Amino acid sequence: MELENVLYGSVQLVHNFGAVAVTGLPIAALWFKSAPSVLRTMAWLTLLAWLLQAASGFGFGTVSYFMEGELPQIHHLALGALCLKIACALLAITLLAFHFARHAAVPVPGQRLWAGLAVLGVTALPCAAVLRWFS
Ligand code: HEM
Repeated sequence: MELENVLYGSVQLVHNFGAVAVTGLPIAALWFKSAPSVLRTMAWLTLLAWLLQAASGFGFGTVSYFMEGELPQIHHLALGALCLKIACALLAITLLAFHFARHAAVPVPGQRLWAGLAVLGVTALPCAAVLRWFS
């Protein structure tokens, strides 16, 4: 039980900081109008945060599978919330990957991309509450 708690706690730690980063970075980028070099770093950090968020999200299931021998039973509303979170992560990663692929020389996202990323983060956050309390 101790090991299981340590593993769940570690995954949760990464996932919670990831949640702050995927929502906070785009909002900060829109709010503060920083220099292009800062925005470029923030864009890479946002991509990293979304990748970590997806990996740690699946980490919950992995810990459950190896420690309890089965995946968590998730139904109805909670399953919908989980699917929406996964969709947000896939879309955000795709948008940022396309952005970096297309603008290799000056990879600074515009206002529209930052706004889209902020919407995806803000959409995923309430899904976490639904997933937590309806599963
Ligand atoms: C592929 C994407 C994701 C997957 C697979 C995933 C999966 C999960 C799972 C399985 C849990 C545990 C739920 C429970 O304790 O019953 C969780 C918790 C959480 N997730 Fe995600 N998640 C993803 C993306 C996100 C994103 C994008 C955010 C925020 C922007 C987020 C925020 C949270 C938060 C804050 C919790 C903790 C909820 C609580 O215990 O109160 N997740 N996630």
